[in-house]
Amino acid sequence: MKIGIIGSGVVAQTLGAKLVELGHDVVLGTRDPKKLDEKKNMAGTLNEWLTAVKNKAKIVTFKEAAVHGELLINATHGQASVEALKMAGVDKVGTKVLIDTSNELDFSKGFPMALASETRSVAGNIQAAFPNLKVVKCFNTLTAPIMVNPKMLKGGDHTIFLSGNDPEAKAKVTELLKSFGWTDIMDLGDISAARGQEMYMGMWVRLYGSLKNGMINIKVQS
Ligand SMILES: NC(=O)c1ccc[n+]([C@@H]2O[C@H](COP(=O)([O-])OP(=O)(O)OC[C@H]3O[C@@H](n4cnc5c(N)ncnc54)[C@H](OP(=O)(O)O)[C@@H]3O)[C@@H](O)[C@H]2O)c1
Repeated sequence: MKIGIIGSGVVAQTLGAKLVELGHDVVLGTRDPKKLDEKKNMAGTLNEWLTAVKNKAKIVTFKEAAVHGELLINATHGQASVEALKMAGVDKVGTKVLIDTSNELDFSKGFPMALASETRSVAGNIQAAFPNLKVVKCFNTLTAPIMVNPKMLKGGDHTIFLSGNDPEAKAKVTELLKSFGWTDIMDLGDISAARGQEMYMGMWVRLYGSLKNGMINIKVQS
């Protein structure tokens, strides 16, 4: 499948590498595709990433990524996601599924990072701003390596969440999750549930503070 990832940080690079490994036609979108030697926050440079994926993917602009993908992934900073998707022109690409991985964390006062709001979510804001997209919230509750390799933790016996308004879009994302090895996939309902997924980060940062380790996930039992 043609997949356009809007973003170039550790989430984009990790999801992108796994999707390339699975044989998908992947592009990674960034504001300046010429800046290939700049270290990306928690990830390496884009040149290093291209080498790691054996040049089987391309680095393009946000706009080119939005056009390329039959499936889109938003992996931009949560405080800038709606703006980044405007820059990507996602309102002009027709009906597409977009997986939103973002969290709107405020790092300005250090640890523990503050959550932006209890009453809105980035995914809800994206869905409202771009009604042509079928937004599915997923992956935001996990550290990047676990997103693509659930078995690295307790043999994969833990839960990943998704939400969104469109059942077919969620079915498509569920198939993708299964191809990554996920077995415990919990559909939380329509896109308003993304608030819950994003607010979980309040708990996640505290777990991280206690465990001093980001390799964390939860298993829902009832
Ligand atoms: N890090 C994790 O393990 C993790 C886990 C779960 C969820 N998340 C969420 O996933 C998203 C991606 O996280 P990340 O750590 O990979 O990267 P990040 O550092 O949060 O974001 C990097 C991306 O955001 C873009 N960006 C930053 N400021 C921008 C602005 N003002 N306008 C437009 N674009 C802007 C950057 O553009 P350029 O490409 O031009 O640099 C880059 O593509 C975030 O929302 C994060 O909260 C992260």
